[in-house]
Amino acid sequence: MNYDLSLRLQTCLNSLAPLQTVADVGTDHAYLPCVGILNGQLKKAIAADIGVGPLEAAKTTIARYNLNEKIETRLGPGLTVLNPSEVEGVVIAGMGGKLIVSILEDNISLSQSFQRLVLQPNIDANLLRAWLAAHQFEIIDEKIVLDEGKFYEIIVAKPVEELVPYSELDIEFGPILRLNKEHDVFHAKWSKEFAKNESIIHQLPVNHPRLESLKQRQALLKEVL
Ligand SMILES: C[S@@+](CC[C@H](N)C(=O)[O-])C[C@H]1O[C@@H](n2cnc3c(N)ncnc32)[C@H](O)[C@@H]1O
Repeated sequence: MNYDLSLRLQTCLNSLAPLQTVADVGTDHAYLPCVGILNGQLKKAIAADIGVGPLEAAKTTIARYNLNEKIETRLGPGLTVLNPSEVEGVVIAGMGGKLIVSILEDNISLSQSFQRLVLQPNIDANLLRAWLAAHQFEIIDEKIVLDEGKFYEIIVAKPVEELVPYSELDIEFGPILRLNKEHDVFHAKWSKEFAKNESIIHQLPVNHPRLESLKQRQALLKEVL
């Protein structure tokens, strides 16, 4: 049997440590919890999804590896399928940042009860960071990976008593990621956007309404690069 995960999902799984009981919300095929149990990192998991098809796919993977005793499946939206204190943490991966925000916001007390949350937005990571910052979460770790030609940011958060003051650069680029500028993948992601914006700026007429915001964005990118 091949227990390999994609780099993106493996990084999410690694980021859950040291937690041993977790919920994977939006699990689809339940690959992450299955590998987590098979490699001994996790003791128990809940694999949840809003879709019947994805949950059936999860059940198939779980049965294939004979993990029915260790992984429970739940059908329903977001965190509504979880009871307080039954898992130490949650992973929500492979969705847009806005959807992750709405899942957390719809059940804020449960969101704030987890020891850690591993969040992997496909887009709008900045919106997710802004929401976390405004709702008493601290970003305790961040990773960025290039997987099959796409960049993915993984945000690890935990609830805290006081609001953590994050700057605009922290929210846009990640408070931990942006301080590690030598990180090749981080540099590649934002250099790519910088180059793309430069080429747009050179093609636009001087009085184009987009120019001002593009130039502001370039100044921010220059600062972080
Ligand atoms: C692209 S898949 C990601 C699967 C896996 N987490 C990964 O990262 O590879 C997104 C999954 O999230 C599920 N989903 C979307 N909205 C959801 C919600 N509000 N609550 C739970 N699951 C949701 C979808 O049904 C789908 O199976």
